[in-house]
Amino acid sequence: MNREIFRPNKEFSKNARIKNMCEYHELQDWATTDYEGFWGSYAKEKIDWIKPFDNVLDESNFPFVKWFIGGKLNVSAQCIDRHLGSRKNKAAIIFEGDRGDKQIITYLELSYNVNRFANLLKNEFDVKKGDRVVIYMPMIPEAAYAMLACARIGAIHSIVFGGFSAEALKDRIIDADAKVVITADGAFRKGIPYMLKPVVDEALAGETPVRKVLVVERNFEDITWVAGRDYSYNEIIKHQSVKCEPEVMDAEDPLFLLYTSGSTGKPKGVQHNQAGYILWAQMTMEWVFDVKENDTYWCTADVGWITGHTYIVYGPLAMGATTVMFEGVPTYPDAGRPWKMVEEYKINQFYTAPTAIRVLHKSGEDEPTKYDLSSLKVLGTVGEPIDPPAWKWYYEAVGGSRCPIVDTYWQTETGGHIISPLPGATPIKPACATFALPGIIAEILDENGVRAEVGEKGLMCVTRPWPSMIRGIWGDEERFVKSYFSDIKKDGKSVYFTGDGAVYDEDGYITITGRTDDVINVSGHRMGTAEVEAAIKKHPNVAEVAVVGKPHEIKGEGIFAYVVLKSDNGIADELEEMRAINDVIKKEIGNIAICDDILFTLGLPKTRSGKIMRRILRSIAKGEEITQDISTLEDPSIVAIIASAVQI
Ligand code: WT7
Repeated sequence: MNREIFRPNKEFSKNARIKNMCEYHELQDWATTDYEGFWGSYAKEKIDWIKPFDNVLDESNFPFVKWFIGGKLNVSAQCIDRHLGSRKNKAAIIFEGDRGDKQIITYLELSYNVNRFANLLKNEFDVKKGDRVVIYMPMIPEAAYAMLACARIGAIHSIVFGGFSAEALKDRIIDADAKVVITADGAFRKGIPYMLKPVVDEALAGETPVRKVLVVERNFEDITWVAGRDYSYNEIIKHQSVKCEPEVMDAEDPLFLLYTSGSTGKPKGVQHNQAGYILWAQMTMEWVFDVKENDTYWCTADVGWITGHTYIVYGPLAMGATTVMFEGVPTYPDAGRPWKMVEEYKINQFYTAPTAIRVLHKSGEDEPTKYDLSSLKVLGTVGEPIDPPAWKWYYEAVGGSRCPIVDTYWQTETGGHIISPLPGATPIKPACATFALPGIIAEILDENGVRAEVGEKGLMCVTRPWPSMIRGIWGDEERFVKSYFSDIKKDGKSVYFTGDGAVYDEDGYITITGRTDDVINVSGHRMGTAEVEAAIKKHPNVAEVAVVGKPHEIKGEGIFAYVVLKSDNGIADELEEMRAINDVIKKEIGNIAICDDILFTLGLPKTRSGKIMRRILRSIAKGEEITQDISTLEDPSIVAIIASAVQI
């Protein structure tokens, strides 16, 4: 595996927070030899404590760990109030709407907006510390205000991505037992209004714990208002005071839930707490993007995903940066949109997903040449392994062969980056997440907890708890332990297993190879095959189904479903049947889970004990030769039948 190496730009390194690999190793050695000293020192330096913590870490009840015990803080104060001295007139959020409308929100304005919002929730909706608030919003500044307002009063927000269906939204509302939903009438996409509020109405039909719905009017399309339940934000916000004392929160009080897919049909409510999360969000912003005081930083994610939480809202604001928020899609009105924005706002750090890079490359290869991209200093990617051709185009055409690309590896559960290059220090290899960040003690292990050899594919683990680590799965302690801490033991002690495979190269660089479980990665979004299967099974004509991932040129992975229909009904019209199945998926999960391929088959390859052999189905979907032993199958002939159907 001899890959080209790109060394950091000397000028850049000189001013970077971490300037070279020696400094990196010094920090990592400090963390390794004095873990609590390392973290305690950063927590003291970076967080504006209301009351200092007494102890750094309590792992006595591992994996239920506690960080910064006894410390009191407020995350919204960390993100806003402490900047009101020197940065009150600095842009906190630069918003660009789908149709090119713009807003610049200074830290002082952000403070007013968030305080008003917090008062609204507290005084009009009776939201109290610890209550759950579901946020189902487009990418507009009010989404950030809503998050920070919850943080201000100690409510736990749970954002549900706007692409999820009413069913999916309802499940999450019920699981979190939320009493308030914050939404918008809708927003704009490719110049056209789309709606969210009707989805909320549908989700709230029947019994739910929701008492109040707050609607931000963004596109002013007609919506239905339920008297006594639905309120217009635009109206009631006007009457709120701009002063709301931040709630005093314990370091380990929950900050938010974010539902993500696992290996069963039911999504997991990943819980993050206050101090550890915000500390690492801020530290990784500083180290990995190396954002400077006058820089403008843009992450293209949606607030509905963890990237939007940590790297659009919490991380940038905690460090007092200027963060760009974009409502639209990168290819509208054309594939030059992001580069036009880079030129216009003089963006310094640009962070996006490989799937977006592939789309922009494919549909606008020469677009970057039309704009002045010289402001760019650091480029980032996240969400899935990036393929070398996309990396090369990003590096050369967008970054002018001048900007390091930080390939940041992390997950909803890790809260922030765990493996990533440092732009001023790490010699980069294309499409490689490189090394664990200082403070993160990570290792690729085999199933027995032994460090993987060079070139040997192993399991990506974190062997010590870290501050921004997941604290629990909402309402399901057992699943928390089972999902992350029961597969691998190192020296007899359970370690955190990410679910990803990874490999060391001869220089110790880490390359992530993808999920080892039944989770697939569609356009950088996690989708549980079991979740899609559970949705498809709701179709009355479906007897059995197995879902696998299949490589996809743009999305990274696409969804491939093998479906056995109930025999007595037969297949009247295959296309019609496919449409009907995708309609069920749209209803149960949302458009993001639509299948790229559906194959109707007479049976599935199963062992005699009834277990579906997905490995075989994955190989068939890829068009690979079947080399696995199929003699243990209940009916080995089914493999050839399915394989020949796929080739047609
Ligand atoms: C999964 C986490 C992390 C924010 C967005 C997705 C994959 C993430 C990388 C990367 C290779 C990556 C992993 C991980 N992943 N970043 N740089 N290289 N794979 O968050 O929905 O929790 O998904 O995304 O498979 O487990 P998520």
